[in-house]
Amino acid sequence: MKVLVTDPVADAGLERLREAGYEVTIDYEIEGDELLEAVSDVHGLIVRSGTEVTKEVFEAASELIIVGRAGIGVDNIDIEAATDHGVIVANAPEGNVRAAAEHTVAMAFAVARSIPQAHARLKDGEWAKSDYLGTEVNNKTLGIVGLGRVGQEVAKRLDSLGMDLVVFDPYISQERAQQFGATLVDDLGDCLAQADFVTIHTPLLPETENMISKEELELMDGGYLINCARGGIVDETALADAVANGTIEGAALDVFAEEPVPEDSPLLAVDDIIVTPHLGAATEAAQENVAIDTAEQLIAAFNQEPVLNA
Ligand code: NAD
Ligand code: MLT
Repeated sequence: MKVLVTDPVADAGLERLREAGYEVTIDYEIEGDELLEAVSDVHGLIVRSGTEVTKEVFEAASELIIVGRAGIGVDNIDIEAATDHGVIVANAPEGNVRAAAEHTVAMAFAVARSIPQAHARLKDGEWAKSDYLGTEVNNKTLGIVGLGRVGQEVAKRLDSLGMDLVVFDPYISQERAQQFGATLVDDLGDCLAQADFVTIHTPLLPETENMISKEELELMDGGYLINCARGGIVDETALADAVANGTIEGAALDVFAEEPVPEDSPLLAVDDIIVTPHLGAATEAAQENVAIDTAEQLIAAFNQEPVLNA
């Protein structure tokens, strides 16, 4: 069996595939026609969020059995085309959850205390102490949009830091929210209006695309928005405007509608929007976990055994 790996995946997983006797080819730069040619004889393809696995890829990959997503979001994979071609798509839904939650908490503090801005100015030789008066999370309300795996871990951490939690998630029960010390509301607007900090943890779906736009940001009336879930859930032009004109205090973004973010993105021009380059899952432990989980799923598929996260 041949496996092509087109986004950076930890060695621990690739080693497991080699030990199982598979031929593993790594090419992190490949795209376009070269990708279509490279997939023509592979049985497994491993990606993260960087590779778009399109209908054309499935059409070209006549031997393909499984696409392994070494992470959670499968929005870069055309699932319908995979189904049409009888290809399994399996993600690694657990291994990077804590890393993503920790990054979200770090982003909340970073934006509320202007840490990146103050850091940059001090590195430039400026002692800008009097320019920064931050906000504490203690006694503030956190609005969580999407109380799934990552949202729950964020809830636990910020609850323990003194925040009140309000959740919007149409697919969970009030009892479930209460297990995390949160109140479930059945309207996104209520969640945004009550919150001092809003954090997004939904998948990118047709129903969540641009779910937070100008109107929703106006409901926040101040406060901070954190998105470590997926670009495209928040309307970026509306967000840049809302922070620039003071509708909200600031935003912290790890994910973007277009990655890498173009240099002329309006988001980069607004000082109170802090950004990281999709680092939510970028810890050694998380990358090792998802690489191993993904490798195991390829091995199961090749052995015609059940694939757990298909
Ligand atoms: P999950 O599937 O466990 O949870 C998603 C939650 O969103 C569910 O509870 C679901 O009911 C809820 N939801 C769905 N549609 C909704 C809607 N319209 N409104 C409100 N809630 C809705 O997913 P997860 O593992 O918690 O991951 C959450 C997001 O974080 C995904 O987009 C994932 O790709 C992303 N993620 C990003 C990074 C990163 O590196 N930045 C790392 C891990 C995960
Ligand atoms: C995910 O959905 O798991 C994230 O995109 C993490 C990643 O692969 O970088």
